[in-house]
Amino acid sequence: MHLERSIPALRDRRRALLRTGRTVALVPTMGALHAGHLALVRRARELADEAWVSLFVNPAQFGPGEDLDSYPRDLEGDRGLLQSEGVALLFAPSSNEVYPQPPAVRISLPDLAAGLCGAYRPGHFDGVALVVTKLLNIVQPEVAVFGAKDFQQAAIVTRLVADLDMPARIEVVPTVREVDGLAMSSRNRNLDPDQRRRAASISRTLKAARTAIVEGGERSARRLESLMGESLAAEAGVRLQYVAVVDADSLQPLDAVGGRTLLAIAAHVGSTRLIDNLVVEVP
Ligand code: PAF
Repeated sequence: MHLERSIPALRDRRRALLRTGRTVALVPTMGALHAGHLALVRRARELADEAWVSLFVNPAQFGPGEDLDSYPRDLEGDRGLLQSEGVALLFAPSSNEVYPQPPAVRISLPDLAAGLCGAYRPGHFDGVALVVTKLLNIVQPEVAVFGAKDFQQAAIVTRLVADLDMPARIEVVPTVREVDGLAMSSRNRNLDPDQRRRAASISRTLKAARTAIVEGGERSARRLESLMGESLAAEAGVRLQYVAVVDADSLQPLDAVGGRTLLAIAAHVGSTRLIDNLVVEVP
């Protein structure tokens, strides 16, 4: 696996590869890789001749007081994992390489970014949209692979690429979970064993809401939100940030659930912020 830190050198490699007709699938990451990332890499390998991974902890998507400094970093561990997964190239640029000057451009998708995590992380999705645009422009992959755990991010990136006629296709891969249901996340590394156990209540709550819809016939979004809120409030050490029941395509709030419905939760366990979601097809 080739490690590349420079944008011009990466472009040279990409141009050389284009001449051979080989295709590239990009997996953008912020490192601290886990089984969820490896599922993205495996999908990338199925979708193109070469899987390329970017590893960049993007300062533009962290707000003041967020966990940019404590975000887990493990370049050597990540390199080993990617090497054994048959990744052809790891692009790990410095902040100066990506942002040689403060960007004057802002990319906003207000309709998709206003709710859910966007309501609590102002500017976060502008930072994601900017860096994903830059990565897609730099690498020019045929396809880019994202995880469904970050559902709002995947929706925003899919729309960004469509609206700007960017040539990459966006592929979204289902969330990978621990045995107890906890969604894989780099931030899980920051949980102590007790917090780790309590964190599983997030996915349990989502499943209970899905059961209420599918088996209990519940259709009221407000009642489902109350159900989820109460279930998490009963778990000591878990501090709810939001529960939401929204349309899975528009991300807009629903009164009555129907069609593709997104159940989403953000909660703090200790100082670690975790998110998770489930999509339910409601007839
Ligand atoms: O999902 C992530 O790890 C990041 O938001 C991404 C897509 C790599 C952009 O920095």
